Amino acid sequence: MALPEVLAGRLNRVLLEHRQQKKLREHGLSPRRKMLFIGPPGTGKTMTASALAGELRLPLFTILLEGLITKFMGETAAKLKAVFEAIRQTPGVYLFDEFDALGAHRTQSNDVGEIRRVLNSFLQLLEKDESKSLIVAATNHPELLDRALFRRFDDVVEYELPDAKVGREILLRKLAMFETGGVDWPSVLPTIAELSHADLSRVAEEAAKMAVLDGSTRITTGGLVAAIGERRAAAR
Ligand SMILES: Nc1ncnc2c1ncn2[C@@H]1O[C@H](COP(=O)(O)OP(=O)(O)O)[C@@H](O)[C@H]1O
Ligand SMILES: [Mg+2]
Repeated sequence: MALPEVLAGRLNRVLLEHRQQKKLREHGLSPRRKMLFIGPPGTGKTMTASALAGELRLPLFTILLEGLITKFMGETAAKLKAVFEAIRQTPGVYLFDEFDALGAHRTQSNDVGEIRRVLNSFLQLLEKDESKSLIVAATNHPELLDRALFRRFDDVVEYELPDAKVGREILLRKLAMFETGGVDWPSVLPTIAELSHADLSRVAEEAAKMAVLDGSTRITTGGLVAAIGERRAAAR
């Protein structure tokens, strides 16, 4: 993944603490285990959960809270409890992806009470959890979440749209099989504003396709700028 140093450092700390948890626990300390990832779509939150699982050789389980909601009050709570029972029994990385989906649900059904109940029971179960699993909650819309919720996590990690440095890294990495020596980066990078990591991945792919269809492996400045322009228009 292409990540700013500060972010990479914070994620490495999670890995380190998890790997050394025995040592930490011997001294009455607990490793960081409950993480909240917030930031715009396409900036690598889901990808990070999967990378953490890969690094720790743990299975990744994804839970969509929205999918747990049913019309029957007791049932939702029972399902959530079952998830936390699994967290306790089967060590893994458990990703509660897209909390914001709950927000969307709220405006559709107007069932604010039910959503709040689900979130509250989630938080209570999270707080009580003493398993060895890594629990990651991810959201694109932190403004939908109560600030009080942030305190229940060991770490809140904020993702941002890529700056020029990270943007260049993503493009170069994706275009590793192509000739990029001739690209005039100072004219390309100022045009990537507002694009996410996911958008830039697509840009690289488009530029690569253009080159291949042109019968070449050479990526041009014009090709990249055109692909970026198209993506920006599509993202709007
Ligand atoms: N930091 C990153 N470095 C490289 N590629 C990334 C990064 N973040 C996102 N991507 C690309 O964008 C895609 C979508 O990212 P994802 O993790 O699903 O974003 P989010 O969960 O934040 O919406 C990934 O599959 C990957 O191709
Ligand atoms: Mg995601």
